[in-house]
Amino acid sequence: MTQPSSDARTALVVVAHHRADSLTAHTALRTAARLEAAGFRIDLLDLHAEGFDPRMNVADQPDWGNREKAYSDETHAHMRRILDADVVIAVFPVYWQSVPAILKGWIDRVWNYGFAYGRSKPRLAGKRILWLGLAGATADDPVTEGMHSLLETNLSEGIAYYCGFSHSAVGLLPDAEERPQRVDAEGNLLVGDAVAGAEREAQYADFDRRARELLEKFLAEEPVPA
Ligand SMILES: Cc1cc2nc3c(=O)[nH]c(=O)nc-3n(C[C@H](O)[C@H](O)[C@H](O)COP(=O)(O)O)c2cc1C
Repeated sequence: MTQPSSDARTALVVVAHHRADSLTAHTALRTAARLEAAGFRIDLLDLHAEGFDPRMNVADQPDWGNREKAYSDETHAHMRRILDADVVIAVFPVYWQSVPAILKGWIDRVWNYGFAYGRSKPRLAGKRILWLGLAGATADDPVTEGMHSLLETNLSEGIAYYCGFSHSAVGLLPDAEERPQRVDAEGNLLVGDAVAGAEREAQYADFDRRARELLEKFLAEEPVPA
């Protein structure tokens, strides 16, 4: 793999999963490797491994009368990592059609008043973010389309654009479960048979291909002019 040049762009890859052997962690590492191959310098932020505490606290609670508030050292260190990044890629399992608590807490505490929003010249302007969400629902489950648009509304419109990002996209990766899941008309969760062997390999390969395509599409998209 080629070394990124000193003027290489930086990608902050944020992983929100409690297991290092999860499909989410695997997808994050593959995504980081692809970004590195595309010439990015990588900052890998594994929120669980770094022991990030998602709970809001007094030091990091915004003070609406003071956008210059000095937040906790931990939060300032995370703000620095965002400022140093040109692109942010958040990789997470979809929980309740949203992000897991640890990722939500990172946003709550770090994307704070005076830093991410509340300034006429947003500090995050020019940056781009891809939300790569792994979902247990199958691609043909009727719930999947609505889940995607809900995530776009929440993460892109409600958070990223509010915080001044120039571009935000949600890449949804359904079929993340070994055993396909869907909910029937009566609300029962139907869990299919686990796949194994060559079929399992093919399922992983297809998943990997979809993740790569979402990243390539994101990298090729033109940023919205500031
Ligand atoms: C608390 C919880 C909530 C979940 N909510 C959803 C959901 O709203 N939609 C969905 O498609 N899958 C949902 N799932 C399934 C996960 O998205 C799925 O297990 C995960 O993406 C698989 O990746 P992993 O093996 O890396 O954990 C949920 C799982 C958990 C544990």
